[in-house]
Amino acid sequence: MTTPTPTVRLDNGVEIPQLGLGTARVGDEEIRRIVREALAVGYRFVDTAAEYENEVGVGQGLRDAGLPRGEVFVSTKLRGADQGYAQAKQALTDSLRRLQLDHVDLYIVHWPLPRLDRYVESWQALQELAAEGLTRAVGVSNFLPEHLARLGEEASTVPAVNQIEVHPRLPQRELRAENDRRGIVTESWSPLANGGDLLTDDVVTGIAAEHGVTPAQVVLRWHVQQGLVTFPKASSVERLRENLDVFGFALGEDDLARMDTLATGERTDPRQDPATWEEF
Ligand SMILES: NC(=O)c1ccc[n+]([C@@H]2O[C@H](COP(=O)([O-])OP(=O)(O)OC[C@H]3O[C@@H](n4cnc5c(N)ncnc54)[C@H](OP(=O)(O)O)[C@@H]3O)[C@@H](O)[C@H]2O)c1
Repeated sequence: MTTPTPTVRLDNGVEIPQLGLGTARVGDEEIRRIVREALAVGYRFVDTAAEYENEVGVGQGLRDAGLPRGEVFVSTKLRGADQGYAQAKQALTDSLRRLQLDHVDLYIVHWPLPRLDRYVESWQALQELAAEGLTRAVGVSNFLPEHLARLGEEASTVPAVNQIEVHPRLPQRELRAENDRRGIVTESWSPLANGGDLLTDDVVTGIAAEHGVTPAQVVLRWHVQQGLVTFPKASSVERLRENLDVFGFALGEDDLARMDTLATGERTDPRQDPATWEEF
């Protein structure tokens, strides 16, 4: 049987499961099935975003599963097109309508979009949405140290999380240290580096064989063992089960040192540098 998923405490005391389900690049109908199946095999955390255009399907999957609302942690994100004070206040209401929920557990500014220069006023709106009870916690995604510093100077609340691309090829040690210094929990997106050749790398397959686990389990264990919160996306029940089952074994110091050799600094999409990347 799969070991229960531990939780991590956010700065306001809200507990987030350390491993959940990612939902990017999946349409409403398929994500409805995947969310339902994931919750049936034990997932209690689903990460979506307005930009994924699948909040309706995610909400249907949540309802199909029939779990008490308080047992499932749901996060969604403010898309670039909705940045700005008034737009951000409205955007969460729109997301909640699509999800058919009265609150989410975490609401996140998806990208800083520094050229647009609206993330400080967006953040002001998110803090108010939390005070109004529409989200239990608020966070950011893809924020670099300079963006975190600006929020530190101009806002009264520190983000609960910074959701950034992290995997063994891109360990992001400096940005994670900056998050830690500010009391921000790091969430890893694309934890499997999108399921590409990382999972057939000799280092990963070698460690997997030694522990009698799969390459994906080695990589996900690498995340959770370092205290990261993550949410791989998978399509089949077999993979959903496999990815959740990473709390019953541990990587040794030697394994972690071998994993360090995989750090090339490569992003899954080299264009997605948060200093310049724009998506709306
Ligand atoms: N904040 C942001 O800007 C941002 C950006 C990107 C992603 N995200 C979030 O992070 C989540 C995860 O990232 P991601 O979806 O980009 O990539 P990922 O989770 O690293 O990888 C997903 C890919 O890996 C495959 N896979 C899953 N489990 C596997 C296993 N056990 N063995 C072999 N292959 C496996 C999946 O294939 P199948 O689906 O075919 O099973 C899929 O193609 C997203 O879904 C989204 O929620 C956030």
